[in-house]
Amino acid sequence: MKPEHLLIEDEGDIRLITINRPDKLNALNTAVIQELSEVLGAADKDGSVRVVILTGAGGKAFVAGADITEFAHFDKKEGRELSAQGHKILFDKVEEMGTPVIAAVNGFALGGGLELAMACHVRIASDNARMGLPEVSLGVIPGYGGTQRLTQLVGKGRALEMITTAGMIDAAEAYRIGLVNKHVPAEELLNACRETAKKMAKNSPQAIAAAIRAVNGLFAEGINGMDVEIEAFGSCFGSEDFKEGTSAFLEKRKPNFTGH
Ligand code: COA
Repeated sequence: MKPEHLLIEDEGDIRLITINRPDKLNALNTAVIQELSEVLGAADKDGSVRVVILTGAGGKAFVAGADITEFAHFDKKEGRELSAQGHKILFDKVEEMGTPVIAAVNGFALGGGLELAMACHVRIASDNARMGLPEVSLGVIPGYGGTQRLTQLVGKGRALEMITTAGMIDAAEAYRIGLVNKHVPAEELLNACRETAKKMAKNSPQAIAAAIRAVNGLFAEGINGMDVEIEAFGSCFGSEDFKEGTSAFLEKRKPNFTGH
């Protein structure tokens, strides 16, 4: 079924997904979360998609958070369920995708919006982007992985400062503390993402998926990341991509990876 709140465009092997609720600053309601889950899941299964770029419509916001109107009346049980479901169907799912996802942070990325960007594998921000986790100003805490992923990306002190002050930082500060990989003028944002995506798309999709699995292994509870790396490294040796990559090197030609 065609998604109602997302725009999907294929540019060769790059899939651009735009969250399209600009009048609500692309706030994540249940429908958007469900559609994103389905559309990203489909992209991950589609061998012709090598990289996903995720952005927000309207030039003002990437995503200004979870949709506050949907949960303002929730009780404890509903709150817990909202968080657990979000983790399961979207945020963990994005992080675990074998196809890399680049967040093109084109304006406000607040609360669930920043959490979504942080679940992506790479973040590139426009110079006008503003990022923060304002949840404590609403009497709640980040519930879509923000307490964990922000701490992983910027360290405990900076994460706790951002979370407890509920303040926003600009793109230059986000770059300085390692929250985004790069920041560029707004009009160059999508091209900067495409440039990174093209570099990724030249490499073995199988090996990229294995690398994502191994890197995520550092943060997964009860799992030894080195063991994940050893398993993922070994798995590459059974792939057509490995044969192609090593043969191409030895034959002094460019590899042509199929992702098998
Ligand atoms: N949930 C629901 N609606 C949201 C939203 C959110 N997280 N963020 C913005 N919107 C809606 C506004 O209610 C407004 O809708 P309306 O036109 O029907 O009144 C519309 O998007 C535009 O936002 P507005 O607040 O008028 O824009 P602004 O430029 O004055 O302010 C922000 C921009 C981002 C500073 C402000 O919208 C904001 O603080 N949003 C909430 C951020 C937040 O706390 N996110 C975390 C949620 S857990």
